[in-house]
Amino acid sequence: MRLTGKGRIAGVVGWPVSHSLSPVLHGYWLESLKLDGALVPLAIRREDFARCIAALQQSGFQGVNVTVPHKEAAFALAHDCDTAAKAAQAANLLVFHSDGRIEARNTDWVGLRESVHAAMGRLDGLSVVLLGAGGAARGALLALDALGTNKVQLLNRHADKALALSRAMQPLIKSEVLGGGLDQWEKAAPTADLIVNSTSAGMRGNPPLTLDLTHLKPSAVVLDIVYNPLDTMLLREARARGHRAIDGLGMLMHQAVPSFEAFFGVRPQVSEGLRARLVEALSRD
Ligand code: ATR
Repeated sequence: MRLTGKGRIAGVVGWPVSHSLSPVLHGYWLESLKLDGALVPLAIRREDFARCIAALQQSGFQGVNVTVPHKEAAFALAHDCDTAAKAAQAANLLVFHSDGRIEARNTDWVGLRESVHAAMGRLDGLSVVLLGAGGAARGALLALDALGTNKVQLLNRHADKALALSRAMQPLIKSEVLGGGLDQWEKAAPTADLIVNSTSAGMRGNPPLTLDLTHLKPSAVVLDIVYNPLDTMLLREARARGHRAIDGLGMLMHQAVPSFEAFFGVRPQVSEGLRARLVEALSRD
């Protein structure tokens, strides 16, 4: 990290924050672009969030990335926000403007859109099964819709949450959205061109999703937003059955692009070098 009196500084705010890969991502770009700046991890408790954000703004920070549990509080304290933050009622990026305004943005959905686009191109006319109905599923719906999907079947362990989310999101998007329980998997799976896991199942410390992949058509692609571990059981099984599998690192790398640009003024590139650096960081975890 190079930081002189003229360098720009930004943070990542969470509780805990030690698991965040933002310092690795931004550090890689700062180093390869030879920019004078730093992104520092800041462990901040829920009750201290608003006070700390004000202090960081006054100290000349450009802004912060926001992670669990502060995404909703970040949205609530901002003066204005982008459409995605409004749809999610949550923000993963706060930009501190020179006139004192705090802007809330949600770039999680951009990460998924760019990751899917890089792997598959547009999804015009295609059908997707989206697993999960939390904040990540909300962003995923925006991303899939922006790529032109025809239909998204939203399946969740608790069906009522999937139904509520599909009703809330339908007015915001063009794709048809149908909510239901995971018990509808057998019926939904054969129609899907893409499966997206947006649940936290399969994440280190959580039980994996147990889905019968024999119902998928051979051309179906399987994407997992989980990146720790990178090789989830879902992706391993998909690959073993001959499906194309997309891991969560693409989404992670792409969601950081708009943050870096907002903090440091340069649009960075997602590259194999960055991916290798993240794989190395994850292996040290
Ligand atoms: P996020 O904001 O990251 O999406 P969240 O709002 O806590 O996090 O949502 C987590 C999602 O993972 C939910 O859809 C949850 O299902 P429920 O709504 O039924 O709880 C889903 N999830 C977590 N663990 C799961 C598991 N073992 N099997 C299936 N779904 C799981």
